[in-house]
Amino acid sequence: MLKDKTIVLGVTGGIAAYKAADLASKLIQAGAKVEVVMTEAATKFVAPLTFRAITNRPVVTGMFDMASEWSIEHVSLAEAADIIVIAPATADIIAKLAAGIADEMILSTVLATKAPVIIAPAMDVNMFENSVTQENIARLKARSFIIIETGYGRLASGKVGRGRLVENEKIIGTVHMVLGCKGDLAGKKIVVTAGGTEEPIDPVRVITNRSSGKMGYAIAEAARDRGAEVRLISAAHHQPDLVGMKIVRVHTAVEMKEAVTKSLKGAHALIMAAAVADYQAKKVAKEKIKKTGASLTLELVQTPDILGEVRGNFIKVGFAAESENLVENAAKKLQKKQLDFIVANDITDASSGFGVDTNKVTIIDSKGKADRLPLMNKREVADKILDRVVKKIK
Ligand code: C5P
Repeated sequence: MLKDKTIVLGVTGGIAAYKAADLASKLIQAGAKVEVVMTEAATKFVAPLTFRAITNRPVVTGMFDMASEWSIEHVSLAEAADIIVIAPATADIIAKLAAGIADEMILSTVLATKAPVIIAPAMDVNMFENSVTQENIARLKARSFIIIETGYGRLASGKVGRGRLVENEKIIGTVHMVLGCKGDLAGKKIVVTAGGTEEPIDPVRVITNRSSGKMGYAIAEAARDRGAEVRLISAAHHQPDLVGMKIVRVHTAVEMKEAVTKSLKGAHALIMAAAVADYQAKKVAKEKIKKTGASLTLELVQTPDILGEVRGNFIKVGFAAESENLVENAAKKLQKKQLDFIVANDITDASSGFGVDTNKVTIIDSKGKADRLPLMNKREVADKILDRVVKKIK
């Protein structure tokens, strides 16, 4: 997705500058071409050589830096950029951006570009909360700069508060979202469910399953990166939050049904990757069930079949985790739940299905056509599913 994209990474002079080296490395790994521009102050924190080695590109460190092929050509760097990311962005750089001052290469590049600009601020809490900084941030937002919220936590000063540079995953997620906003799902609303529901037995115990939520999160991420407005209903509480979408956290099948029903207004597709428990306790014990020495019988009743019960003018995609007669059983579910597609995964294969990063699936459509895909990572599977959703929406 970041292949063939040129990202200008502006690194400014704060202690968080060292994290920008990892950011550059991850952007390169995602396929991007990264051009690093450092302010003079940034070079006091991290050596330009670090970025040069990571990006395999010359690093621009000054307005009149003849060592770089861009040298004083800030205009050509501005034009080459598909996106500009300033991470970390210090308070004074934010102030200069807001005032239109361009006495650093990164500032003049921003002034000269038509590409979107993402700013990831990082500074001490008092500087961040100062009304001048907040006003400057508001001015940049009003001018369509994308400002990533700072994190909360321990700062270099030892204080705890807002002002930490967000994790690189969030910056990269924002880059994907911004670059993908005109993708083939732009203007479409996609509801995705993920994870295994938990049905309580008593205050401490639950019935659940081995779903990690990875498949659902990969679909939500891929839909976001193709421009969709994504609503992720998640029962996967160990997955890190994804940026650029609303995430509704649920535990039980009943809660999931309520969240799905509420989210479906205006939706173009519902993709149910969640492993919804089929049974819940008939009665949840108010107190912790005691060990008595005798055997224990739990009475279970069925949970609502969310996918089977929701109706509307949207595409319905279900999953079927099967251990036998894969295609046949999945096709039956597709009929019963009136789906447009069902994604059958063979859970007998250790590299496919629950908990792993890869999946080997067969996608079956409502006419019974079965498309057997090779083992792929879940993100690739997500895009294969979305390719079909896109075709069906149009
Ligand atoms: O019938 P089965 O549980 O195998 O169907 C799997 C598909 O149905 C999945 O897409 C799952 O998210 C959905 N499902 C549901 N509500 C349930 C059980 C499963 O929506 N109670």
